[in-house]
Parts: sequence; C-alpha cells; structure tokens
Amino acid sequence: MYLGLDLGTSGLKALIVDENGAAVATAHAQYDVSQPHPNWSEQDPNEWVIACLKVFTELDNNHGAAFQNIRAISMSGHMHGAVVVDTSGKPLRPCILWNDMRSEAEAKQLDADPNFRKISGNIVFPGFTAPKLMWMQKHEPDLYDRIHKVILPKDFLLHWLTKRYVTDMSDAAGSSWLDVGARDWSETLLNASGMRMDQMPDLIEGSQIAGIIDPTIAHECGFNQDVKVIAGGADNAVAACGVGAAQEGQGFVSLGTSGVLLAAKNGYHPAPETAVHTFCHAVPERWYQMAVMLSATNSLNWLANTLNTTPAQLSKLCAGPISGPSKITFLPYLTGERTPHNDADIGGAFIGLKSNTTPADLCQSVMEGVSFALRDCLEALKSTGTELHEILAIGGGSKSEFWIETLATILNLRLALPDKGDFGAALGAARLAMIGDGADVETTLVPPAIAKHVSPNKKLQSEYEAAYQRFKKLYPLIKEAS
Ligand code: XUL
Repeated sequence: MYLGLDLGTSGLKALIVDENGAAVATAHAQYDVSQPHPNWSEQDPNEWVIACLKVFTELDNNHGAAFQNIRAISMSGHMHGAVVVDTSGKPLRPCILWNDMRSEAEAKQLDADPNFRKISGNIVFPGFTAPKLMWMQKHEPDLYDRIHKVILPKDFLLHWLTKRYVTDMSDAAGSSWLDVGARDWSETLLNASGMRMDQMPDLIEGSQIAGIIDPTIAHECGFNQDVKVIAGGADNAVAACGVGAAQEGQGFVSLGTSGVLLAAKNGYHPAPETAVHTFCHAVPERWYQMAVMLSATNSLNWLANTLNTTPAQLSKLCAGPISGPSKITFLPYLTGERTPHNDADIGGAFIGLKSNTTPADLCQSVMEGVSFALRDCLEALKSTGTELHEILAIGGGSKSEFWIETLATILNLRLALPDKGDFGAALGAARLAMIGDGADVETTLVPPAIAKHVSPNKKLQSEYEAAYQRFKKLYPLIKEAS
C-alpha cells in the first residue's frame, strides 16, 4: 500500500492506493487561511501537522489493514510558500502563501535583475518565495536573522516525518532560487536576494527517497518502522503525475481556485517574456510549462457569495448546451493576473451591464471571462512553440457541462473529462510513492479512464472568437482607467 498526501490551500487530502495504484481509502481535514491585511495570506504550518495526524487517525481507525501496510508515503503541496524555521525546526512566523501579494515591490526589484529570468527561467512573480524573504529582511529583521532554513510547505511535513530538510526539483523551481535547467540551487540568485546556500534544503528528484519515517512518529501514528518517505512535488507537477501528463504533448486544463493550463515537456524551454512558467517536473529529466490565471472558480465563488447563494446553485442557472456568448464581458482579475499580464494590481470588471441583467447573465459572463483568460494562457503557451491537441479538464469547475463546452469552444481544443475517481494531486503523490519504492515511471504515470470528450461547438465558434477578440482589447483600457 502507498499513501499520497495533498497539502492544499484549504485542506489536506490523504489517499491510500494498492500495489496497482487503485484507490483504497481517503480522508480529509480542513484548515484556514488567515488574511491579517488585504492582499496577505498566511497559514500556520503546525496546522498542517495537526491535519496530518487527523487523517492518519481516521485512516487507521477505518482502514487499519491498509494503513498499517503502507510501504511509502509521498506528498504534493501548494507552491511558493515561505516556511522559515529556527535551529530547532520551529516556524518563526506563519507561512506566507502563494497568493500573498505583499512582496510585489521586492518581486519587481528582483525581476529587474536579468539573472533571475536567465537562470530561473521565470519571471519573479510576487507570489514566489524569494521576494517574500526580501520582504522579511526589510519588515521583520529580528526574525529574519534567526532563519536557519527556508522550506516549502510540503517540506515542513516531510521534515516532521523524517527530521530531514529536503525538497524536490518541482517545488524548488517555484522559489526563484533554482537554476531550473541545471536542476540545482543557484548561488548567484541566492546571493542576489540576501540568502545563503546553507539555508536551503537538500535537493532531490520528486520520485526519490527523502528518508525513512522517524521511529517515534511511526510508533505514535501506527505506521510500520521502515516506511519510506518519497520527496513528492509541487501541486501542479504532482497533479500532472496523477493524470498521466508526463510526456511531451500531454497536458491538462484545471478549473480550480486558480486556472492552470499545463503542458509536459521532455526538455527545458524557458520563455519568461511570455509570463509562462517553466518548472522542473516531479520526475527526473522532465519539465513542464504552465500558464496560470489567478481567479477561476475563485471568480464564481466570489459572485455566488456576492449574490448570497452557493456556487453550485449559481451554476445551475447556466445549464444545458451553450447558445452563444453573453453580451456582458467579465474580466476575472479579482486577485491580479499572472499569465499573460504579470500584473498584481489589476482589478476585475463587468462590461455591458443593463438594468435587466440577471444573475444567470452574470454567471455566464464569469464562466466565459475565465475561459477567455485561459485562452490568453493558451496563446502564451503556443507562442513558445508548445502544441496541445487534446487535453484533460480537471478541477471543481469541470463539473459544469456548460462551462466545459464554453471552454472547449473558446480554446478550440477537444477536452477529455476523466471518469469519476481520484486522479488529482493525492493520486499523483501516491504514484510518486510507488515509483520511489521501485515502480516504473512510464507504466505508473498513465492517463485516467475518460468518461467523455467535449469538442468545440463549431457552429458557434466564430461568435465566441469575436467575443474573445473584444475581451482582449479590454485589459489595456481597464489598466489605463484604473
Ligand atoms: C502555481 C501556483 C498555484 C499554487 C497553489 O504557480 O501558484 O498553483 O501552487 O495551488
């Protein structure tokens, strides 16, 4: 048996799979995000350990035979968070999360140094790790001076389980300190942001063994003494392992809190000028490109909240086949935007509201606006030479048939919807645990069974294309007006 842990922004999911990678048991635990100031987003790393203990107890109580036979554990984690620990391994402050925008000025400063794009292969976005440490240096100098190690969120769990400071290439790639092509820390980038090499964890591949579970934890939690802990990886890389997107030409679009368009790459082809992310994959000698729009289901959740309803109720207003684009255009920049604009300050907008506009109209325009932003992401990926023909659609938003048909038509791509079941980052993590225990990469990272394909609506495509062209013109106008 193998255990995959998915450390998400709002909760932890655990999945046990058998020797064939089939799901056996799952458990969840929730935790909160705190927002002490607008644009800030923090989490107490100790809450992740509490969540872990909770899911372990639940699995042991309800699926004891499987739980006690776990041979290896691995994990996926939300990226870019800065967990700063002292010499005893205790967090010096709450983790500053990926969606925390306080270090915008520091990100701009680092990004202006040409070495960052050249060596890390990426723009230094405000959510990335390096600018957060510069912010700490300026605003929390006493804590900053006590930093023993800076680790990424999932690596706090890894340290708790193994007592080792280790990270994997895919998570390290989002720090702005990694030479992403060479898969090694960059002394140049560390020095340029005031950090030292000895403050970094050891680097290994996501499918390699980070350590053996600490005997006390094994005893307390009911594990075998010799459970291997496999490094695991960044959430999107590990989700790609879960849906079998590890080879050139394979990819997925995810309608989660943020919207992600990911393409697996066999080589390293950075293109920071496009605001496309180029990161190491969670398995050796692979990379991936990813375009990220920041508010996907987050936009729908915001609208539902504002209309005093739930996202599920709101989505019901847009059921059935699509019949043409809305007259209202929504710009989904509620938390700024990454690809293609790299603009933390831009805000969202509705254009074309009338006195008879209904909640259904707003819902449709939100689903379209997110899809247009993902089309921007696709265009950015294409501009780097990446080709995608058919991709998997995953994430909470993919449950809406209306949204998926809208998206397929706007992207002009056939979308494959996986059959029900566990195919996300928890499965990807469990698969990395299997590989770390000796399973073969190619035969383990396979695509899921497909429930159905959704093709672009050819009859309506020119109308949606014209609407996308209108959408594209709005960002510079809104930028100028704000
Ligand atoms: C990727 C990113 C998010 C987070 C949270 O660059 O910021 O996907 O990893 O899920």
